[in-house]
Amino acid sequence: MLSVKDHWDKVYNTKAPDQVSWYRPHLETSLALIERVAGDRSASLIDVGGGESTLVDDLLARGYQNITILDVSQTAIDIARKRLGLGAKQIHWLVADITEAQFEPGAYDLWHDRAVFHFLTAAEHRAAYVRQVARAVKLGGHVIVSTFGPEGPTKCSGLEVVRYDSEALHDQFGARFRLIESSKELHHTPFGTTQQFLYCCCKME
Ligand SMILES: C[S@@+](CC[C@H](N)C(=O)[O-])C[C@H]1O[C@@H](n2cnc3c(N)ncnc32)[C@H](O)[C@@H]1O
Repeated sequence: MLSVKDHWDKVYNTKAPDQVSWYRPHLETSLALIERVAGDRSASLIDVGGGESTLVDDLLARGYQNITILDVSQTAIDIARKRLGLGAKQIHWLVADITEAQFEPGAYDLWHDRAVFHFLTAAEHRAAYVRQVARAVKLGGHVIVSTFGPEGPTKCSGLEVVRYDSEALHDQFGARFRLIESSKELHHTPFGTTQQFLYCCCKME
């Protein structure tokens, strides 16, 4: 079995950016939520498992000045960097496994994750992730996590996932994370199929 890093490097070495099921030209739901809860363009944002997504391009275009993109795959980060050209210099890039990355306490106003947490099938990895969020996000900051919903697929990219409804996802995080909104999205894959995603947005208290 490949390591997490090798799995994702292989995916990004062998598939075009728009030929993966999670691809969408723009992450509209994420963008709308981010602008609503962290509208100040100097807010420090981290996109965890950003992959090759265009969220970073869209955040830069909207004037955000303090963006960090983390991914376990160096290949994905290299591709996103190249696509951004000069804009890449304005971004903090981190190659790390989210369960092990080193963060300063209260480093971020906003944490965003689309389609990463659901790959953590081991309870100890989920607990490590939650500890990371609790350390890295400021009190009063926001956490947006999007996973497959209860009717979403059971696998993605050949890996098992855990599907969540809003209550089950919020339970993973606990009372310090106040759930302020949740929604479901029917994502249309590039292959003509649909996948149910769940979005939860919490405030750190
Ligand atoms: C399904 S893709 C989603 C990419 C992007 N968030 C999007 O919505 O287009 C999952 C991403 O999470 C990254 N990833 C998976 N496990 C990770 C981990 N433990 N730590 C950091 N990144 C991880 C993968 O490399 C991949 O880019």
